[in-house]
Amino acid sequence: MTAGRTAPRRVPVEVSPPYDVLVGEGTLAHVAEHVPAQRVAILSDANVAPRYAAPVAAALRAAGREVETLVVPPGEASKSLTTYGDLLTRLAEARFPRDGAVLALGGGVVGDLAGFVAASYMRGVALYQAPTSLLAMVDASVGGKTGLDLPQGKNLVGAFWQPRAVLADVAALASLPPREFRQGTVELVKHGLLADPVLLDAFRAGWSQQLPAERLVDAVARSVAVKARVVAADEREAGPRAHLNLGHTLGHALETASAHRMPHGEAVTYGLVYAALLARRRGYADLTPFLLELFDWVVPAPLPLVGFEALYAHMTRDKKVAGGALRFVLLEDVGRPVLVDDLTPQELERAWNELLKVVA
Ligand SMILES: NC(=O)c1ccc[n+]([C@@H]2O[C@H](COP(=O)([O-])OP(=O)(O)OC[C@H]3O[C@@H](n4cnc5c(N)ncnc54)[C@H](O)[C@@H]3O)[C@@H](O)[C@H]2O)c1
Ligand SMILES: [Zn+2]
Repeated sequence: MTAGRTAPRRVPVEVSPPYDVLVGEGTLAHVAEHVPAQRVAILSDANVAPRYAAPVAAALRAAGREVETLVVPPGEASKSLTTYGDLLTRLAEARFPRDGAVLALGGGVVGDLAGFVAASYMRGVALYQAPTSLLAMVDASVGGKTGLDLPQGKNLVGAFWQPRAVLADVAALASLPPREFRQGTVELVKHGLLADPVLLDAFRAGWSQQLPAERLVDAVARSVAVKARVVAADEREAGPRAHLNLGHTLGHALETASAHRMPHGEAVTYGLVYAALLARRRGYADLTPFLLELFDWVVPAPLPLVGFEALYAHMTRDKKVAGGALRFVLLEDVGRPVLVDDLTPQELERAWNELLKVVA
């Protein structure tokens, strides 16, 4: 952890109450300035904690705070009722007070889990997000959705609980496994497609984990700004927030069909190419060349061996199906998402067959 060379970029999220996402290099060294609570519970996972929890705790203690660090096993399995119960029990045993703050230090798993702990412990304590994966920086840490999985499905339990601040330190990305960096890139590019063409230029200009920090900071801050604008316009997910599902209708179906062996970002990559094919058939701008560039960069896992029928069934069962009609987010062009609910099964199947050809 190096001290910040320049002031972090500040991206405001205009929900009530509003908060800032600070994106910088070395941001975590300044944690005490942004997390004012006297008692702080750092919640992290066993990949992230050994690298980053001690310096964060030291920075807080140097400012006179009392800190405990709670570490869960890495991976989606920690978003469980069991882990959640253990964490609440440990906080209660430590007599963690109502005016204490929970600091989520990790990827989206830690963010969702710690967020729900903060939302529910003593009916709610202050939450701070310190995302360490690219996906958590550009997506999971912003927007206030927290939650857990049940054996019956992902994210079935949860609450909206906004953080007081989000501290994204791009220095942490250096230790992120490359495949995880790719998952986050997909959401970053999705934000570019929805609302910021400069992000698409950043991707084309040799996007990599090894970029100089200022370029990572710029891209992460831009991507966060897109999500922040959508979330602020639609805090409880009634309208425009649906645009964030670009690429996710087929993506979720592929994740389900692969029994969650296909990573999320890779499934969404297929979904983005698919949405581009559907859009092209409707006479919208042809974004397939760009999305195939993304595809070649991500190198997603092979498609699960399922037919269109099975995927169609998964898609119509997805929770995003409103009133029975399958809703797709398509792009008329970069920056112009539209919700389309009149795609026929025939249209969807034709595009699926086309997808099989273009990714072969
Ligand atoms: N709340 C939301 O709005 C929202 C949005 C999108 C996704 N999510 C959730 O986020 C989760 C996925 O997030 P994720 O992709 O970050 O997964 P993750 O938290 O499992 O992190 C991915 C892997 O990278 C490791 N890791 C994280 N940061 C690291 C670092 N700096 N150095 C080394 N290793 C590091 C983690 O230990 C883990 O093994 C899912 O549970 C998903 O449901 C939530
Ligand atoms: Zn996603």
